[in-house]
Amino acid sequence: MSVIPTILVFDSGLGGLTVLREVVRARQDANYVYVADDAFFPYGQHSEDAIIGRVVPLIGELIDRHAPDLVVIACNTASTLVLAHLRAAYRVPFVGTVPAIKPACARSVSKQVSVLGTRGTVQREYTKALIRDFAKDCAVTLVGSAHLASLAEASLGGDPVADELIRAEIAPCFIAASEAGPRTDTVVLACTHYPLLRQRLIALAPWPVEWIDPAPAIARRVANLLNGVAGCAPQASAAMIMTSGRQPPPARILLPFFGERLVAPHSNQRLPQAGLHC
Ligand code: DGL
Repeated sequence: MSVIPTILVFDSGLGGLTVLREVVRARQDANYVYVADDAFFPYGQHSEDAIIGRVVPLIGELIDRHAPDLVVIACNTASTLVLAHLRAAYRVPFVGTVPAIKPACARSVSKQVSVLGTRGTVQREYTKALIRDFAKDCAVTLVGSAHLASLAEASLGGDPVADELIRAEIAPCFIAASEAGPRTDTVVLACTHYPLLRQRLIALAPWPVEWIDPAPAIARRVANLLNGVAGCAPQASAAMIMTSGRQPPPARILLPFFGERLVAPHSNQRLPQAGLHC
């Protein structure tokens, strides 16, 4: 492994920045390449075959180009589908982002837990297997949101997002107390975009719940896999690629996610390969 590790963080859009933020805190010395596959966003609307056919070769190109020491798939919609394919195809270590059902069920007191993800993520066999294996005595409600990821991107970009739109997306997560049991006390944020709306989610919830964001646990896993000591490395670089060729968001938005590090100006390079809808 190189002295300064290069970590590639991949998502369908800007949601993976919430994972990047935690990984940067854990490894301030690393070089970072953040890739938003915005040309194919939102992944939640695509079929499983389309996502596998898109992500597996794209990650191969990114590995060839950036030679990362580790790749973080900071997207539940992709991770619940492509991790096994990626590990079979490439030798680089991968860290995925999958619904945090095990810690949520362990922490829930009411044993009424909801999983809020894209429609794709909540339909996945992978997610259903996590529930079978780890829900134990919890009742788990799967909530597939069609619009919350796009609303989170709009909000990050400074566009107004009405309370009612967010309320409508999260409402099915809240199961009221009944003869069947007590009310929901824990909601898993099973899409990396949703922590971008964290304060709005807290404010708009019909009652207080614990919102589980797996990003700090993912960052710990990355740090463990890379070994080495996280130090300060002023020469470490940061770059951002939008597969559409669009400009990345402005520095004032990106800086907090990249640990206040300036993102390289060449970062908006278009991926040149044919057939990637770039
Ligand atoms: N950020 C992605 C996730 O964690 C999904 C957003 C999308 O639909 O592309 O699932």
